[in-house]
Amino acid sequence: MGHLSNRHFIIGLSGGIAAYKGAELVRLLKKQGAKVRVIMTRGAQEFITPLTLQALSGEPVHTELLDTSAEAGMGHIELARWADAVLIAPATADVIARLASGRADDLLTTVALATPAPLLVAPAMNQQMWRNPATSLNIEQLKTLGVSVLGPAEGEQACGDVGAGRLLEPEALLAELQRHFSSGALSGRRVVITAGPTREAIDPVRYLSNHSSGKMGFAIARAARAAGADTVLISGPVHLETPEGVERIDVGSALDMLAATEAALTTTTDLFIASAAVADYRPTTIADQKMKKSGDTLQLELVRNPDIVATVAASSNRPSYVVGFAAETQHLGHYAEGKRRDKGLDMICANDVARSDIGFNSDQNALSLYETSGVTELACASKLVIAEQLIAIIASRLQPSCDHDTNNEGVSP
Ligand code: C5P
Repeated sequence: MGHLSNRHFIIGLSGGIAAYKGAELVRLLKKQGAKVRVIMTRGAQEFITPLTLQALSGEPVHTELLDTSAEAGMGHIELARWADAVLIAPATADVIARLASGRADDLLTTVALATPAPLLVAPAMNQQMWRNPATSLNIEQLKTLGVSVLGPAEGEQACGDVGAGRLLEPEALLAELQRHFSSGALSGRRVVITAGPTREAIDPVRYLSNHSSGKMGFAIARAARAAGADTVLISGPVHLETPEGVERIDVGSALDMLAATEAALTTTTDLFIASAAVADYRPTTIADQKMKKSGDTLQLELVRNPDIVATVAASSNRPSYVVGFAAETQHLGHYAEGKRRDKGLDMICANDVARSDIGFNSDQNALSLYETSGVTELACASKLVIAEQLIAIIASRLQPSCDHDTNNEGVSP
């Protein structure tokens, strides 16, 4: 379930079209086993009903500050004390301005002012409102007051404008909360991850590739970041959003992926996780011009691609822990263990791609983790949950780093 299970969250919704994303966040938090109470401003109730939020949170929704029956249930001070964190998503320019000046003129701002718990705000507004110097000053003021500001994202807005001001996606908000409450198992660590397929060009318009979705690698990057790691994700062409706080480097071919990996592997990289489905071969030559069809058959000569994870494991810059993946259709243990040894890996995560419920394009996975010490089974679960479990196990295998070593007595010259 991860570290949000049984945590108490107040999710504050203010008036914006993005209020529906706040509702989705409540659903995701409940799925993680968290306890959620929702506060809605008057504006929020113009966009989405309290009944929806009540159904999603399983708790009465709080809307009024001066309401005797609500105060008799869980009063605003009790509510403020109940929370382990308060996240306002979406936070409008008006709510941000009121929070920045310490106003307490409705239930949401009163609870924000009264809570001893961390306060997080996820702004959502028109790009011009976001760029307005008044908003910038308010955001700076909130940061000075210790409030965490999440986002906003850039892109197309409900009003038709394009720019910064979109509410972060619910998944990204969840990841931020997870990071906030993470064990910090990978804090101070640098992790490099490969994900997705590679594309091997035949000519300027054609390529060889595979069906890898990149979902597993992206879930691992998200979990590593949530555990506090400085995370670099080197990705082949996929249709996935970059997890919040992760540095993403897009590549095409296996050679590009190798070059990006070598550039990302500084001497301080602790962990390398190769989840990419790298094409084993590439065309020996890439035609300069689009190839014309001629005969009934066509022969393509292919040449072997370098093995990225094996190259990393053998390099002088070898991170302290190197992990690979093995997708197999038979003799899972035998083949996986063989690859682990041949490629010089500390761990190989094997999955049975003959099963239809897990694997390449699925949202689910199940893994067998092979190490020299033995095998650990991760039972079928969502790729996000599997990624969290995998990261927790890998973190426990890392030697304490210097800045983690509290017993460093040092030697006098
Ligand atoms: O040998 P096989 O392709 O099954 O090995 C899979 C593992 O090796 C995965 O971790 C994959 O990312 C990695 N790999 C690689 N470079 C290649 C081929 C595979 O890093 N050229």
